[in-house]
Amino acid sequence: MLSNGTCLVALLHVGFVLRLGSLWFPGSPLRLLGKRSLLEGLVDDIEVYSTKINCQVTSRFAHNVITTRAVNRGDKAKEVFFDAELPKTGFITNFTLTIDGVTYPGNIKEKEVAKKQYEKAVSQGKTAGLVKASGRKLEKFTVSVNVAAGSEVTFELTYEELLKRNRGKYEMYLKVQPKQLVKNFEIEVDIFEPQGISTLDAEASFITNDLLGSALTKSFSGKKGHVSFKPSLDQQRSCPTCTDSLLNGDFTVTYDVNRELPANVQIVNGYFVHFFAPQGLPVVPKNVVFVIDVSGSMSGRKIEQTKEALLKILEDVREDDYLNFILFSGGVTTWKDQLVQATPENLQKARIFVKNIRDQGLTNINDALLSAIRMLNKAQEDHLVPERSTSIIIMLTDGDANTGESRPEKIRENVRNAIKGKFPLYNLGFGRNLDYSFLESMALENHGLARRIYEDSDADLQLQGFYEEVANPLLTSVQLEYPDNAIQDLTQNSYQHFYDGSEIVVAGRLVDEDMNSFKADVKGQGALNDLIYTENVDVKEMEKALKEQDYIFGNYIERLWAYLTIEQLLEKRKNAQGEEKENLTAQALDLSLKYHFVTPLTSMVVTKPEDNEDQTSIADKPGEDTDTEAKSTVPSTTHLLSYQPPSNPYYYVDGDPHFIIQVPEKDDAICFNIDEAPGAVLRLIQDPVTGLTVNGQIIGDERDSSDSHTGKTYFGRLGITNVQMDFRLEVTTETITLWSGDVPTTLSWLDTATVTRDGLSVTINRRRNVVISFGPGVTFVVVLHQVWKKHPLHQDFLGFYVVDSHRMSAQTHGLLGQFFHPFDFEVSDVHPGSDPAKPDATMVVKNHHLTVTRGSQKDYRKDTTVGTKVNCWFVHNNGQGLIDGVHTDYIVSSLF
Ligand SMILES: *[C@@H]1O[C@H](CO)[C@@H](O)[C@H](O)[C@H]1NC(C)=O
Ligand SMILES: *[C@@H]1O[C@H](CO)[C@@H](O)[C@H](O)[C@H]1NC(C)=O
Repeated sequence: MLSNGTCLVALLHVGFVLRLGSLWFPGSPLRLLGKRSLLEGLVDDIEVYSTKINCQVTSRFAHNVITTRAVNRGDKAKEVFFDAELPKTGFITNFTLTIDGVTYPGNIKEKEVAKKQYEKAVSQGKTAGLVKASGRKLEKFTVSVNVAAGSEVTFELTYEELLKRNRGKYEMYLKVQPKQLVKNFEIEVDIFEPQGISTLDAEASFITNDLLGSALTKSFSGKKGHVSFKPSLDQQRSCPTCTDSLLNGDFTVTYDVNRELPANVQIVNGYFVHFFAPQGLPVVPKNVVFVIDVSGSMSGRKIEQTKEALLKILEDVREDDYLNFILFSGGVTTWKDQLVQATPENLQKARIFVKNIRDQGLTNINDALLSAIRMLNKAQEDHLVPERSTSIIIMLTDGDANTGESRPEKIRENVRNAIKGKFPLYNLGFGRNLDYSFLESMALENHGLARRIYEDSDADLQLQGFYEEVANPLLTSVQLEYPDNAIQDLTQNSYQHFYDGSEIVVAGRLVDEDMNSFKADVKGQGALNDLIYTENVDVKEMEKALKEQDYIFGNYIERLWAYLTIEQLLEKRKNAQGEEKENLTAQALDLSLKYHFVTPLTSMVVTKPEDNEDQTSIADKPGEDTDTEAKSTVPSTTHLLSYQPPSNPYYYVDGDPHFIIQVPEKDDAICFNIDEAPGAVLRLIQDPVTGLTVNGQIIGDERDSSDSHTGKTYFGRLGITNVQMDFRLEVTTETITLWSGDVPTTLSWLDTATVTRDGLSVTINRRRNVVISFGPGVTFVVVLHQVWKKHPLHQDFLGFYVVDSHRMSAQTHGLLGQFFHPFDFEVSDVHPGSDPAKPDATMVVKNHHLTVTRGSQKDYRKDTTVGTKVNCWFVHNNGQGLIDGVHTDYIVSSLF
């Protein structure tokens, strides 16, 4: 379909709000002077005259449509941007573009298929869309299209989401950011809940409800609820005389449903959903071990916020709970040898202990978790804790394991084998410099979940909020059972805990659509006794009652079932291997395609078929401008909407020196080689502000030879200096030497050791790597590559990885350092190269047009022998055009 031409692409996932306009409109209050109507609502000639967010929620399942209309009032073609921020838990289900009345629909495709179309499209038009992580709960979706003078464009984005109950309410979160005054701006939310609505509220973070006055209405009665937000132009102004919009923030709708009615099973068109949230049960006592990272990288605000949060949590601990603290850095410290009851005296002692927490050293996750598990197992075995109590571990860390057992796979195996499914592990990842997928996998395989704690002023509240979610287990070992022969394709129906304020949702398909009665057996263990009951539903009565409600969208239970099934398949897939993973992937993909969901496995492609008239009308206009202008406004007509996980930037050099620069904004990487003679020393990093310098010396491929016959070269020595700390480190393939002032300490690659001083730490992981951290925000890893000892020719060499650079200054330079600041590049004109497997393309970077080649390099940080493949655009000729100056500018006279 795309083959004959025009294509533009946007990759897409799910959630909400809108920004439109090709420029950020400066927020300065302009005086009115009677000319207001000429200024307002126009950003660079683009007027966004309507933005509507329409949400229909039926039994927690939200179907949201964002529609934005804009017109180009200028006299030449302009690029119009549409941004929406969508909840991470939602799935996009539709995206259409309407230009001058002609609608181009979105088609759902398997991601790889869509990507191929996209790559083809890139060579013909230009890319215009991406999704990246945006804040805590949202993901960002951006599309731009070129709009001819006088033309109108409508963007319509639809996404669906199952609202989860958390701390007693369902929360729908809409981000609003129109960036200009919009004549018709409205949010309309209709909620239908067969159980009846018990509370409903709506608020905007950018203004108090009093000031919103008539713009906001909210009401509910019986099964229906309604929220409407329609600020007039004047109500949108940031001040009475301003032309910029005050709408910038979160619009949140929260509600809950009645729990008195047992009617919490719903059945329509052969699908059922069962909502389970019993009320009024006593809380099950819990045994909780807090496993807290106090390593060096936690120092400063993070550790203070953690202490603050723990002190607040101690106020909420119930007297029949048992608790303990395990602190870990390089080693493990426990507060008490065993769990103790949360008596007022013990809580007082706990407070003193928490106040005295200090940061130090490295990160030994393995030993800390194993101690916690041993402690909980022993407490149960010795009957130290009540029979009907439940155990949980809450671990908080801000970094990767880097001492003791530090292989993620091995830690997971150890923890799995120790917990044996008996209780859940919750992992909280503090900040961004950590391997979150490791924390998530480990939590998921131990019946828990992982959560990010964002480094921000409210980190303590985030921690405390998480604790509140799990503080009150009402039931353990919860099972929802349905007659085997009557139900198929059931979603997860057993849960280790039911927490107060949450809800368990199970959906499935009836084998016989015409069945008359439906039965569910519920079992769980409560604080005092076991809960067992059966729920019987008259299917016909139920369907009749539900179908009478006119604003239910017909197949919502089927879609809810598909949503839940896909979500659970994707979750399971995270920890699956081999054939099982393929199976899960295939199932999730089938359902995503069938139900039109943009998930990590699918993309949405919006194609504008070749249309001569349209082509000319858009492409002609820019022709009146300069050439470059014309190029940048070539119409782009295929949008590829898909999901891209966020990632941390990384930079490294390894192998024959291959430099890899990853650019997270692009979800892509650039690579280049530097060919220099053995003996040359290259400047990799130099930061005049932090005083850090890293240089590397090149060696040849072959031993006992200063020149290399193969032409391959590697790094054999690295020198790291911090003048402010009066510290130097030399890493060779044999030894690691540290100088504090003039005093050297020499260690060998056969050691496993850690040296720490003033926030600096150097950890040697025997024969694998050295981790060098200059406090939070600056961490390097040097990887040792060992060749076969008796190899006649080849010799050992080193790789250098920058895993965290966010504290290095904007003045940082060097072959790697110059890329630490955000920079941009564009790749276009992808075409076959000399190697059919490696297409060539044109890259525009730093105002240079370069011919680049698609290739891949290996990242050996996690696994020194096999490595993981990193795809990248290879810049030829020693990185010429990409690096500042020429590569010989980076040659220095010595390692220090
Ligand atoms: C997508 O939205 C368009 C415009 O509203 C509509 O015509 C089309 O039927 C929708 N597609 C699907 C699969 O819902
Ligand atoms: C894969 O899925 C099929 C059903 O689609 C099932 O019969 C088979 O056992 C599954 N294989 C694995 C390894 O899970």
